[in-house]
Amino acid sequence: MIKTITPKAISHKKILLRVDFNVDLDDKGKILSDFRIRANLPTIEFLLKHQAEKIIIISHLGRPKGKDKKLSLLPIAKHLEQLLKQRVVFLQDCIGAQIKNEINIRKERIFVLENLRFYEEEENNDKKFAQQLAVLADVYINDAFGVSHRLNASVAAITQFLPSYAGLLLTNEVNNLNRLIKNAISPFVVVLGGAKISTKLPLIDVFLEKADTILLGGGLANTIWKAWGFEIGKSLFEAEKISDAKNLGSRKAELVVPVDFLVASSFKSTKGKVKEIGDIGPKDIIVDVGPIATKAFCGLIKSAKTILWNGPMGYWENKAFRNSTIKIAQAIANNQGFTVVGGGETLTVIEELHLLNRYSFVSTGGGAMLEFLAKGELPALNFLKK
Ligand code: 3PG
Repeated sequence: MIKTITPKAISHKKILLRVDFNVDLDDKGKILSDFRIRANLPTIEFLLKHQAEKIIIISHLGRPKGKDKKLSLLPIAKHLEQLLKQRVVFLQDCIGAQIKNEINIRKERIFVLENLRFYEEEENNDKKFAQQLAVLADVYINDAFGVSHRLNASVAAITQFLPSYAGLLLTNEVNNLNRLIKNAISPFVVVLGGAKISTKLPLIDVFLEKADTILLGGGLANTIWKAWGFEIGKSLFEAEKISDAKNLGSRKAELVVPVDFLVASSFKSTKGKVKEIGDIGPKDIIVDVGPIATKAFCGLIKSAKTILWNGPMGYWENKAFRNSTIKIAQAIANNQGFTVVGGGETLTVIEELHLLNRYSFVSTGGGAMLEFLAKGELPALNFLKK
């Protein structure tokens, strides 16, 4: 059990709040999706309501090599100010005496510090760096579920120096994902797509024992058909995972791969042809799941009581190849059971389709969600245990 914040733990205290504001920005620094930022609002509002003295927000953004203006948290701080409708002070560093002083002398309550990853010490889980962060506050809160699979200083070493708690978002993620692992009601259908089978193999392995059906689309299915000896033309697949894919088969759960696909001559084509797996030619590229399989998948989704979905079914970047993903997204949205959706690309899909509020739970985690579901824990969560 992780320790979640309580009013008593935080009132009249300076709080160091680690969030995952790692959002996509365009070339001009415009935020493409603020889902992750809004997901932390309940914790920030809880801290304001229960009289936290100061809220010092820290996060990483992207994977900078040293200081990189393009990956500053400034636009995110400005956006947070609009969401909260109250002043948020952005400070141009995340450690040091000057930062500490500014936090102490300013009358405002909410601060956003500069990108933690401008210091390589962050990803090295450096103790001294963690200590420099810790001196800014009295209490530490981890509300950064999305990065809790990394042993970074701001989610790991930091907990040696301050009383440490989980925020409301982190707790909510753990509770909802645990429900899938431990208390899923049958029929439990897992829908997995996306380009790479390598990132999903541990998950497939776990859910072959826990779910009733696993539906595979996207590049994952290509690797399986290739492993089973079928022609997939020039479609994406992972050669180094062929032997793992060969060993995949139904266990407790039935493993279902599409029997038909949309194929095109390139990912840039504007239309494709439907072909069944046995008819795919050497020049074809699989770009989407075909209509027969999509219909079958939607039927299984309709009768499910629990659903987990991660990864698009086809090449989402091209509007011509979205049909199956749209149908699957809608079918899951229409299901009245417990539906959990997550992963970076999947989030883009459901935001574009305006379906974000139509699922029981949408995870902020990409890699973190996959790792939590596969292992039932994340390295940084161990430091928050009671
Ligand atoms: C994510 O976007 O999945 C998290 O913010 C972690 O980012 P990272 O993969 O760069 O560590």
